Amino acid sequence: MMKGKVVYMKQDIFKRFILILSIILIINSTIFAILISNIIFDKTSNELLYTLRVADNSLDYTGNLKEQVDRIKSLDDDESTRLTILDINGKVIADSNVEDHEIMENHMEREEIVEAIRDGSGSARRKSDTLGIPMIYVASMAQNSDCILRIAVSYNGLFHYSETIIPVIIFNIVVSLGISLLLSKQFLRSVTKPLVEIAGELRKIQDENPEFHFKEYNYEEMNIIADTILEMSRAVKDSMKQIEFEKIVRQEFFSNASHELKTPITSVNGYIELIENDLVTDEAQKKDFLKRIKKETTNMTNLINDILLISRLETKEIEVTLSEVRICPLLKEVCMSLEPLAKQCDVTIVTSCKPISMTANTQQIKELFTNLMTNAIKYNKPGGKVNVIVTTEPDEIVFIFEDTGVGIPEESKQRIFERFYRVDKGRSKKMGGTGLGLSIVKHVVNYYNGNIQLESKLNVGSKFTVRFPKSKKEPINFT
Ligand SMILES: Nc1ncnc2c1ncn2[C@@H]1O[C@H](COP(=O)(O)OP(=O)(O)O)[C@@H](O)[C@H]1O
Ligand SMILES: [Mg+2]
Repeated sequence: MMKGKVVYMKQDIFKRFILILSIILIINSTIFAILISNIIFDKTSNELLYTLRVADNSLDYTGNLKEQVDRIKSLDDDESTRLTILDINGKVIADSNVEDHEIMENHMEREEIVEAIRDGSGSARRKSDTLGIPMIYVASMAQNSDCILRIAVSYNGLFHYSETIIPVIIFNIVVSLGISLLLSKQFLRSVTKPLVEIAGELRKIQDENPEFHFKEYNYEEMNIIADTILEMSRAVKDSMKQIEFEKIVRQEFFSNASHELKTPITSVNGYIELIENDLVTDEAQKKDFLKRIKKETTNMTNLINDILLISRLETKEIEVTLSEVRICPLLKEVCMSLEPLAKQCDVTIVTSCKPISMTANTQQIKELFTNLMTNAIKYNKPGGKVNVIVTTEPDEIVFIFEDTGVGIPEESKQRIFERFYRVDKGRSKKMGGTGLGLSIVKHVVNYYNGNIQLESKLNVGSKFTVRFPKSKKEPINFT
């Protein structure tokens, strides 16, 4: 993540908040000022218009207008106030502030005159050409003559009231900002405090075994963040435990596997050395040693094959090709391949197979059959029987492997599915066992969401029942 300038949320929000508030206050004050200014202008215009009407009524248009205008003007000693009478063409007839009105320019273009001719009365606001100060001009058509009367008065608009208005505006701004500062600080604290606390708790992540504790906050979003962090931390802990567990299992597996391989290699080496050093002279004994060497290497091959199979089953990414596996032909194939072993052990295999098929990987189902049947033959008694039943129940496919063998002691029933666990190691080895067969079976059963059950009675026999759900649930990989 790119790190720019570090900004703290509280300060940043606060600055922005004040900026927005100031902009709003300025816009507000401006609108307010424009409004008031217009009201003052309208009111002043109306008052001046009234004054003009009074003047209009008191003027005698047949007499000397200049004299009358001066007389009216003398009522007000303000120099900037001025009364002008114009004819309908804009020519000045009399003006209170100018002696010789003949020299005055035509007023036809003036805004207030244009309006007065058009609407009867008009007003305008501008800087006076002669006095250079802001003025208000109000003009009106005379009622008893064809003249236009115009009055001009110095006019500051809103500035006239600035002494009263400015302190009010300043007071308004200061009070609004003050109140907002106080409230926004409080509001900001209510938002940032939980975040600061959550961030503080999160710093514990550097601890070896972090335990997070979060309060209950007023804002639901904060609670969601806190809850999600707790959930995530729980999930991480669980996966760490799982990884740790898998690590131990793997370590045990490797150490067991190496041990299992070391023993046959040592004995193979022993036999070879004896033959090499001509210590075995008897041809028959030599043959026996070679037979033993062959047996040990077969055992090693079996072991390596089983290790490879387990590692393949454990690799989650492995792509398993599924197809419709016809069970009966597959069972027959396995029986055929086990026939020599059965003969050797003097065991008869009986099968009863309902013609069904199952969506699965052929090789995996074959491994399952081979391992369970090999066990049933190997751990049997001479003249014993192995009974394999393939059947279905409403929701399940059921495989039963029953034997009349040595049985499994109660205390071993749970453990025989563990890797390298054997009840009788000598017997297992003699029969080429690796101790991995049932672990492979368990893997395959779990892969198809099935389950395996064991019933066994010592010296009477064992019965393994495997059940697979019929519904095509996605198979899961399992370690
Ligand atoms: N059908 C059975 N009857 C008696 N004991 C059995 C049977 N199947 C398995 N076992 C016991 O469980 C152990 C583990 O079986 P397995 O994982 O297949 O390993 P292996 O057959 O290579 O020894 C065997 O060594 C044996 O002691
Ligand atoms: Mg086995």
